[in-house]
Amino acid sequence: MPPAKLLIVSSDKSFRQVLRDILANEDFSVLEADSGKKAIRMLSEFDFEGAFCDLNLSDLPGKKMLEELQSLSPDTSFLIVNATNLIDSSLEAVRREAQAHFSRRKRKEGLFHTIEEALERSRGSGGSKQGGDKKEIEDEFPEIIGRSKAITDILDIIKKVAGSKSTVLLTGSSGTGKELFAKAIHCHSPRKDKPFVVVNCGAIPEHLLESELFGHKKGAFTNAVSSKKGLFQEANEGTLFLDEIGELPFELQPKILRAIEEEEIRSVGSNELIKLNLRILAATNKDLEEEVKNGKFREDLFYRLNVFPIHIPPLKARGEDVRIIAEHFVQKYASESSKDIQGISPNALAMLKNYPWPGNVRELENAIEQAVLLHDGDGYLEEADLPLFLEKREAERKKRFVKEALDKRLSIEEYTREFIKRFESEYSEKKLAQLLGINSKTLWEKRQRWNLPRGKKQPA
Ligand SMILES: Nc1ncnc2c1ncn2[C@@H]1O[C@H](COP(=O)(O)OP(=O)(O)OP(=O)(O)O)[C@@H](O)[C@H]1O
Ligand SMILES: [Mg+2]
Repeated sequence: MPPAKLLIVSSDKSFRQVLRDILANEDFSVLEADSGKKAIRMLSEFDFEGAFCDLNLSDLPGKKMLEELQSLSPDTSFLIVNATNLIDSSLEAVRREAQAHFSRRKRKEGLFHTIEEALERSRGSGGSKQGGDKKEIEDEFPEIIGRSKAITDILDIIKKVAGSKSTVLLTGSSGTGKELFAKAIHCHSPRKDKPFVVVNCGAIPEHLLESELFGHKKGAFTNAVSSKKGLFQEANEGTLFLDEIGELPFELQPKILRAIEEEEIRSVGSNELIKLNLRILAATNKDLEEEVKNGKFREDLFYRLNVFPIHIPPLKARGEDVRIIAEHFVQKYASESSKDIQGISPNALAMLKNYPWPGNVRELENAIEQAVLLHDGDGYLEEADLPLFLEKREAERKKRFVKEALDKRLSIEEYTREFIKRFESEYSEKKLAQLLGINSKTLWEKRQRWNLPRGKKQPA
């Protein structure tokens, strides 16, 4: 049988070289294309079993090229890889990417399995440190609980990317731990002693966002009574975490892109360019590729952010993590309230495992905290201690709070303020706004007005 033919598409020469080295020992015939146009030409001339495509190309938008390649050669398996900004972690990155891809699509399993093995071998023989030592990882990330493969894989990646300046895009639904993981990247990076600044792109009203991000000069607009530093500048030398990036208004996207690419900003009303040194992390619970398709998110910004994608799966999909995380929080809250709770009874555990956890780890933590609070402090947590109908828990707590507010004869304004103070550590800003029946921007404005800056509970 002739050797399988593979194509490597990337404008990055050293990256092509790495891949080629990995594949060289195998019985593959490997060709390279350094541009999108060349890749298209080659695919129309030859049959390839598989192609590794880096979508950050110098000549064509990567996505467009990929679509064209796929229609040219529907039988070829395409594997998307990211070369840009990867330092010596690129090998591992490719391996991870490959792995993610293999589990997503089982196409051409045999072929890619061989590549995967080759990557594994090459990693081992390269003298690079072997990842995946669970104990070691546990010690290195004490704040992150959970030992599912999904989580240890992510921690492994985080260890590798933390040292570089690569942009990381964290995706996953609410409460999965995007912010926690972003913080972990910062804390394991050489910038750990510099600022970690969080921008919630969804919570700041559109007309203020630019000045919040880039700052403004005195007199730049009606309310600009004094000059103000923007969050980009606050984060200088450190890490800027662009949370809820999917909410970034379309008109601002080119400005953000430019700021990230050029590493310089101009504050509103000023001509002076400010040079910055920033590591950018971003997170979203939206499907950004879908947003790009629908014209809501700029493709160029998406690719600039998606250099290193990390997806955090929902808690429900993480198997034993529900138990491990629940037990961790039982210990934590029991010791905080000096209760002698031994653990969780099998029935209660079964109940926790059956629950879908739409609010993920945040919801589980809250459920355990409440259960510990209500427990009389001896023996095990039983079913009866758990908020019986977890789904109704939120509604019931809110009802109780409303009743208290009525008893105290609070005004609506007072009620809202108390509500924020009472629940802000437990819910995301989005959820808080939802429970209050207002949108995130109104919530942000109220916080500003009442001098109640967003203060999220820090991981223990
Ligand atoms: N693996 C974990 N171990 C321990 N705590 C966790 C873990 N994952 C999440 N948490 C905790 O759950 C809460 C929610 O996490 P985080 O704020 O990082 O989620 P998120 O994905 O940013 O959610 P949202 O999209 O709602 O902002 C935090 O209090 C965080 O410390
Ligand atoms: Mg978050």
